[in-house]
Amino acid sequence: MRSKVLYSIRMRASNRGKHVSGAERIATSEEIDSIVGELLARSRKKGNQPDDVTVRVEWLGSAIPQLVTALDVITLNTSDPQTGRSAARRLLRSIGVSNLAIDRAIKYISVGAAPSGANMRGAMIIDAVTGGRLEPDQERGVRASRFDWTDKAREATGLMLSGAGLTHFRTREALALATKVVHAPGVLAELCWSDDPDYTAGYVASLKTGYVRFPVLKQAGDEQGGRAIFVDRSIHDIDVLLRYLRDEVVLIAGVGTCSGLVDVDAYFDSMDNRCYR
Ligand code: COA
Ligand code: AMP
Repeated sequence: MRSKVLYSIRMRASNRGKHVSGAERIATSEEIDSIVGELLARSRKKGNQPDDVTVRVEWLGSAIPQLVTALDVITLNTSDPQTGRSAARRLLRSIGVSNLAIDRAIKYISVGAAPSGANMRGAMIIDAVTGGRLEPDQERGVRASRFDWTDKAREATGLMLSGAGLTHFRTREALALATKVVHAPGVLAELCWSDDPDYTAGYVASLKTGYVRFPVLKQAGDEQGGRAIFVDRSIHDIDVLLRYLRDEVVLIAGVGTCSGLVDVDAYFDSMDNRCYR
């Protein structure tokens, strides 16, 4: 089905001007009606009923999707924000992100990364050495878009994650987003925790480490969250990066692995011996 003409179908829902949910799929023309129905149903699923829902169907023309394999998933056994963030820092250091850049990213996400103090509507782009912010609009940020699982990979990944107890839709969708992001030119790593006050987990993702989850990166009830994409400025061109994140059509066709809870010290001890993709 993937050699056919493809469409990007994107849904966003808001209530009194506040964004409440969004989702997107890549589909063939035969799949459009059912996927539009699924996304509309999804927009009404949240407790916060939207008063405005937009579903956009965009023809992708002759775009040939980039096929990638999902990152391997591992969960480090940390039980509070302090130990979670400390392990996330250690991991980002091992990927080559400077202490300064890590400190800045964590501080920004904790307090609201937009200059107004609100959560951003997209991700920060952070220089992995200086910690400088590179996204053109710091209130908005940069949003990754036009990515999806193939049907087979979605099903297999869903089963694999559920088997490890990871049943929340956010995990599968964040894994897809992170998989696209870390394949971008010049990207070293991504750090994320959600702005959903009921969802405390977060992750560090990179091609080197895969998708490393931390069950608690913030206190329950905390409405702050965000994403930081760390880039190696010596090899990246910001316009190429922005175009890739927004426009490049990426299909996740390969399934990664999923490990259960792993002890933090054991994880770092074995890091040198691990075989990375
Ligand atoms: N937070 C706050 N506002 C948001 C938002 C978000 N996460 N996403 C969209 N909006 C609002 C903003 O007001 C935005 O205006 P802006 O560009 O000035 O910020 C407006 O909606 C239009 O956003 P846009 O991205 O142009 O809409 P779209 O219809 O093309 O796509 C989404 C909307 C939500 C589908 C897309 O932005 C997105 O986040 N895609 C990834 C979804 C995902 O995780 N998919 C997993 C697939 S497996
Ligand atoms: P969420 O995981 O949906 O709670 O999103 C957490 C944060 O990630 C949001 O506050 C935004 O700052 C950012 N974000 C949301 N959608 C995207 C996207 N498509 N691409 C990059 N960043 C996003």
